[in-house]
Amino acid sequence: SYPPEVSLIEVGPRDGLQNESTPLPTEDKVTLVEGLVAAGLRYVETGSFVNPRWIPQMADSADVFKKIARTSGVTYAALTPNLQGFERAMEAGASEVAVFAAASESFSQRNINCSISESIERFRTVMDAAKTEGVAVRGYVSCVLGCPYEGRISPSAVLSVSEELLTLGCYEVSLGDTIGTGTPGSMDSLLSALIPALTAGKLALHCHNSYGQALANILVGLQHGITRVDSSVAGLGGCPYATGASGNVATEDVVYMLQGLGIKTGVDLDALITVGASVCNKLGRASQSAVAKARSS
Ligand code: HMG
Ligand code: MG
Repeated sequence: SYPPEVSLIEVGPRDGLQNESTPLPTEDKVTLVEGLVAAGLRYVETGSFVNPRWIPQMADSADVFKKIARTSGVTYAALTPNLQGFERAMEAGASEVAVFAAASESFSQRNINCSISESIERFRTVMDAAKTEGVAVRGYVSCVLGCPYEGRISPSAVLSVSEELLTLGCYEVSLGDTIGTGTPGSMDSLLSALIPALTAGKLALHCHNSYGQALANILVGLQHGITRVDSSVAGLGGCPYATGASGNVATEDVVYMLQGLGIKTGVDLDALITVGASVCNKLGRASQSAVAKARSS
């Protein structure tokens, strides 16, 4: 059976744009975020506060946060790797933040320049500051179904870092299939290992579509009772530290599938397709959403 409703976490303005080679001007990012909200999305990861030398595409995140016209009831979230990032996010007016760990040591080193256990210690200072400010913190775990450097990752490695993030105080963990190598089989094994210990209500799915498996993997997640799904308009994105990671699953494609299952999302698919077409036009690239392509032909 399927849940009656699913919450979509739109990551296009962050995970999408951080990996686009054509920089999108700040004003266009603002238009994108506002368009996504107008299409019905209620959670938009709007930017990140990382070292701009590592991710120049996100260097203007503070300006994006300051310029967007806000809609009440919408969460405008920011990715923050450390206390410095958290402080920048608060100054810019982020509604909540996300810390990001990995289930693979090599990926942790390349992505955030520290070991998994060092990252947890850094997040502890973010968590303390967030508690003081009354700000919710989401947790990501990358490479849950495969690592570009280490290959296969065991469900027990994912379980241990997910437990640490939840124990720290993250309200949920988003499971990142960073390079999209997961299949319904490996997703089923992972969730069968995690859910008895963590519960489905504490988990979200963050699938990249490099191997075309994302929708199938999300469907498996829904069957396991997961009701929170990350996606990116037009399938923008990838990860600069994960070669071969193509875009996140396209929000349009997830919405279409959920509609077909009779699951509510609150998103207006036609309005979303228009937003996706507009950002693709500005970036000079094709949409990676199958639904958007089918509707425009
Ligand atoms: P580091 O070099 O180890 O940091 O980087 P450091 O503490 O030694 O500081 C070095 C310099 O960075 C200093 O500046 C700091 O001020 C500056 P300098 O004195 O040299 O001029 N710095 C910062 N500047 C701005 N904002 C900050 C900040 N922190 C330090 N917050 C750090 C450590 C984590 C900062 C670095 O490795 C970094 O920025 N990495 C970027 C990682 C990233 O954004 N990756 C992509 C997102 S993750 C992802 O996409 C996966 C996900 O989607 C899930 C999935 O798909 O699996 C979430
Ligand atoms: Mg990602």
